[in-house]
This record gives sequence, C-alpha cells and structure tokens, in this order.
Amino acid sequence: MARIIAGATSSHVPAIGAAIDNGKTEEPYWKRVFSGFEKSKEWFAKTKPDVVIGVYNDHASAFSVEIVPTFALGCASEFPPADEGWGPRKVPVVQGHPELASHIAQSVILDEFDLTICNKMEVDHGLTVPMNLMMGTTNGAWPCPVIPLAVNVVLYPPPTAHRCFMLGRAIRKAVESYPKDLRVVIFGTGGMSHQISGPRAGLINSKFDKAFLDNLARDPKQLTKIKHVDLMREAGLEGIELVMWLVMRGALDDKVNEVYRFYTVPASNTAVGHIILENKPKASRKAKGKKKK
Ligand SMILES: [Fe+2]
Repeated sequence: MARIIAGATSSHVPAIGAAIDNGKTEEPYWKRVFSGFEKSKEWFAKTKPDVVIGVYNDHASAFSVEIVPTFALGCASEFPPADEGWGPRKVPVVQGHPELASHIAQSVILDEFDLTICNKMEVDHGLTVPMNLMMGTTNGAWPCPVIPLAVNVVLYPPPTAHRCFMLGRAIRKAVESYPKDLRVVIFGTGGMSHQISGPRAGLINSKFDKAFLDNLARDPKQLTKIKHVDLMREAGLEGIELVMWLVMRGALDDKVNEVYRFYTVPASNTAVGHIILENKPKASRKAKGKKKK
C-alpha cells in the first residue's frame, strides 16, 4: 500500500528561481534565504520519497485566463518547464507518475472532487522553485517523479480553505488505496504574506504568517475556517496562495511531528515560510491505537 509519509510547504517566489538560475545563491541577500533550506535538502535526501505530489499554482504559463481549472492534476509522464516570459527555466523536465496520478484522479473524482485531468502540461516556477529548495540543484534530473496538482488562486473565485483541506483528505485516501508500496511526500507551495500590486503592494504580515505556521502544525482545522477576504486582508492579495498549504495539511494525520521550520522576510517582496511535517510512523500509530482499546 502506498502512503503519505510527510508534507512540506514553501513559498515559490520567482526571484528565488532567478537567484538559483543566475548563480546568486551565495550573495548575502540570498544566502539568508537559501541557508534556511539546507536542513530541508538534507531531510529530503534522507527521506528519499518514491513520489512527490506538488500542489502549486500556475501563473498564466500553462493556463491562460481563457481556461482556468480550479484543480488540475498532471497525469502525463513528463512536464517540461514553461515559458515564463523570459523563457523556460533551465531546470530538468519534471518526470511524472502517470499510474499513481490516474489512480488519484479516479479515486478523488469518484469522491466528488472534480479534477481537470491534464495529459499534457508545462510547469512554471510555482512548482520548480520549491523543488529546487527541497531537492537542491540537479545534475540533469530531479531525484524522484512529481505529480503536479495546480490550484486556481489567480482568478476569482479560488477554492475555499476548507475545500482545499478536504481535497487533501481525498488525496490521502486515494494514495492509501494504491496497491503498490510507495512512500509519498506532498508539497504545498505559495505564500506567505505578500501583495504585488495596488495601494498595499509590499505588504508583509509576519505576525499572521507565524500564527499560520503554528496552526498548520497543531490545529489546521482552525485554518479551514478562514474566509478569502480575511486571508487577503491579513496576508495580502497574493497571500491567498496559502489555501494550497491546506491541501498538503489535509493529506496528513491530525497529529504530526514538526521536523523543521524556517521563516524569513523578505525575498523579493514576499515573506518566505517553510515547514516540514511528518506523519507518525505506522508502527507507533498502531501501538497507540491498541493502547486506547
Ligand atoms: Fe505564486
């Protein structure tokens, strides 16, 4: 049986990708950001998941405003980097896992979540920047297959925080009904507080971000009650991306081990937040269940 062993979240600021691509990671401004992910890369290398599910949003790279799916699951065998205006990032093609992705699509859609099935899709910095941060720079290939799940947070109305959390629950059920033994990690990306345009451009709300991280680890159901308007008021217009973190959290156990956390401001005009949460090992979950009886 496949199972989700852990989840991680990370901002996906495009300027982080540009800093990697242009060799600026050692510059003091960027070193502050990248040094916060050194432990994460070690954790990822040690954890060695078989598959990653990457929850992210497309930034008008794969989907124009003509067609904006609320949830789009990548079922292809590969996902080339998208042209983001300056050309596609020079990162390896993302290898998918069509068999698990199709299984997730079937399970989740029959569970009444209407996913758009993408058999051809390009992926932009929303997915590849967190992959760089967690997996490190690559020598021609990413370390494991990644199933992209694009969530609409760019065109009103995005899905609610609660809907995203429940989708995470459905993904977990889907993964656990997949017959092959696979260890799966799920990424939630985007955020934290930031606003790109308008009178509040440059907004960063560290107090809100840190409370969000606390609740994500310990009391995620609190976060499922947040309305879009409150999220945008507190975390800025683009802070709405944080609903994607709840897909990740919904796919994990109620009680998790917090392995690592990092927060810094700013990266470009965005607060960078990152957390790694692990499900408790299966054996200890079983033992706990027996004790209760
Ligand atoms: Fe974004």
